[in-house]
Amino acid sequence: MVNSLSGYKSANLIATCDRNSNTNVAIFSSLVHLGSSPALVGFIMRPDSVARHTLDNIKQTDQFTINHVNENIWQQAHQTAARYPRDTSEFSATGLTERFVPGFTAPLIDESELCYMLKLAEIIPIELNGTLLVIGEIKTLFCNPNAIKEDGYIDIEHLGTVAISGLDSYHKTQRLSRLSYPKTDRKPSTISINGR
Ligand SMILES: Cc1cc2nc3c(=O)[nH]c(=O)nc-3n(C[C@H](O)[C@H](O)[C@H](O)COP(=O)(O)O)c2cc1C
Repeated sequence: MVNSLSGYKSANLIATCDRNSNTNVAIFSSLVHLGSSPALVGFIMRPDSVARHTLDNIKQTDQFTINHVNENIWQQAHQTAARYPRDTSEFSATGLTERFVPGFTAPLIDESELCYMLKLAEIIPIELNGTLLVIGEIKTLFCNPNAIKEDGYIDIEHLGTVAISGLDSYHKTQRLSRLSYPKTDRKPSTISINGR
């Protein structure tokens, strides 16, 4: 019940590798935008009461990638949460495809249409419950160019990106509209996208 209270959350696969190039991927829904300059993204890591392969790999290599989950891979993405042994890559276990980019050891998810590479910036312990806020700085972005609008907005619906509620429910979305930034002296106007 408590997991449902924060509403729709983003569905992301975080992919890493350890110092011996063994890859790992797991689903995370706690992502938060922390700022654009520098471009920072954070996510909440559960307490280390069991092995946390994603966290261990990030600490070893200082790198990770974040990959949007879309309508074609949401079931495989969900399966990555299973507690596979350290020597089993969720890529082979779920059939997701890893893609490597020169100069970066953490893999991208080939099936994802919006992926970005991050360098570890800071890990902040939340003493209240033993969780961690893991913060990365975005270094490189890969996105289907058809979804990028003139002002930089990315039409993630065009990419088939899905949302999560609770811990097990996956959703397609339907945009109502984009709105201009609110000003005190006028009502916001709609910004058309894809003719809507
Ligand atoms: C829908 C969904 C969302 C999740 N979100 C998070 C999250 O935000 N933070 C977290 O620590 N674990 C989250 N998990 C659990 C991890 O995916 C799970 O612990 C996984 O086994 C971690 O893999 P690893 O040990 O390879 O890093 C989520 C699981 C599901 C099914």
